[in-house]
Amino acid sequence: MAQNEGLLTIGEISQRSGVAISAIHFYESKNLIRSSRNARNQRVFSRRELRILAFIKVAQRLGFTLEEIKDVFRDLPPNRMPTKADWQKVSRAWDEALKARIELASKLRNQLELCIGCGCLSMKECPLRNPDDTLSNQGSGPHLL
Ligand code: FES
Repeated sequence: MAQNEGLLTIGEISQRSGVAISAIHFYESKNLIRSSRNARNQRVFSRRELRILAFIKVAQRLGFTLEEIKDVFRDLPPNRMPTKADWQKVSRAWDEALKARIELASKLRNQLELCIGCGCLSMKECPLRNPDDTLSNQGSGPHLL
């Protein structure tokens, strides 16, 4: 254990979290976790950062990017251990994001089913080739002239 009670060296936090030291350095460089220096100038981490690493691992498992994780973490209190309520808020945000992704994936899958066996990749006809073609709803021909 690091000399300062409650603080973990990078080796300790790596071992406790199951996250590689190189990844911990990377997360720190991205401002996802923070360290301080002890009297021996060793980098040390609070137990809060151990919890944050657990959040990161769960978020990555759910498919979120580091930027998306960072967005959600902005609301976490910087100077105390995240509570159960904090976790509920984070997990609710991720739940909403996952539902939106599932809805989009389902829509894309339905569009892809139209393409199976077609192969036209037409700007006029194919919903995957031209997904933002809102003008097609107004019928054929030019609409912006
Ligand atoms: S390839 Fe023809 S509709 Fe998509």
